[in-house]
Amino acid sequence: MKNLIDIKDLSIEEIDELIKVAKNIMQNPEKYSEKCKHKKLATLFFEPSTRTRLSFEAAMMELGGNVLGFSEASSSSTAKGESVSDTIRVVGAYSDIIAMRHPKEGAPLVASTKSIVPIINAGDGGHNHPTQTLTDLLTISYEKGRLDNLTIGMCGDLKFGRTVHSLITAMARYKNIRLVLISPEELKIPEYIKEEIIEKNNIDYIETNDIEEHMSKLDILYMTRVQKERFFNEEDYVRLKDYYILNNEKLKKAKKDLAILHPLPRVNEISTEVDEDPRACYFKQAECGKYIRMALILKMLDIK
Ligand code: NCD
Repeated sequence: MKNLIDIKDLSIEEIDELIKVAKNIMQNPEKYSEKCKHKKLATLFFEPSTRTRLSFEAAMMELGGNVLGFSEASSSSTAKGESVSDTIRVVGAYSDIIAMRHPKEGAPLVASTKSIVPIINAGDGGHNHPTQTLTDLLTISYEKGRLDNLTIGMCGDLKFGRTVHSLITAMARYKNIRLVLISPEELKIPEYIKEEIIEKNNIDYIETNDIEEHMSKLDILYMTRVQKERFFNEEDYVRLKDYYILNNEKLKKAKKDLAILHPLPRVNEISTEVDEDPRACYFKQAECGKYIRMALILKMLDIK
């Protein structure tokens, strides 16, 4: 596999294999500590990040490799007017693999056509975020022991939330998946995801704006932040940002073995009291991000 731009670039078998390797790394990290000796990962982040960039960097370090890159466009030659294509061509001479995040949808895809080394999409605007999805799948597999036969509630900003788009794309390929899509009217899932992914794959789904209505049926509750940076005006954001605040009260009817996920960062959408609930998996999920990225780097560099 040359690049990872969309989660569909990976087959179900490849995803299963990545999860298997990631679980093995979790158990035997020392076995992997020199696998990427003399290899370099470049992280080119044209948009803010904590987990994605640092987990990529920690992943490469734990594999014995090195990292370089920038964490904001303003500290790179982008500020002087350099195109993404030129930046990518040059960075390929300094690194073996590149993880890139960009506010423009499709930028990593364009970059991949110019790059001499593999490109990983670390988030492109409100479009996709395939490595977050791998993180989510590892977390679900770890918590539930399966990726099929699940009722998954997705709540919050389903319109701009790229992690939601990629996760739905991935889940649509597993058997017996039901989706409960919970959002305010203005932040509903885009039509193209509904038509091309959900309906095309005959996924059973419901759209609602009520977080409690189907709570008792959920195996997974995937909370998301309202994506402030994608709004055209502040007023709409302010009106919608606290639409959902998950707390202990709202979880009263939930299953005992519900898994609550969130790609993080959290703003207000999960009350901190929920952190103490054993069903809260979001910090574990962030940890899973490092292990699955280790497995991914090994795969993309073709290291056994
Ligand atoms: C997500 C993202 O960047 O899309 N964060 C992440 O990578 N863990 C979610 C978000 O920013 O809300």
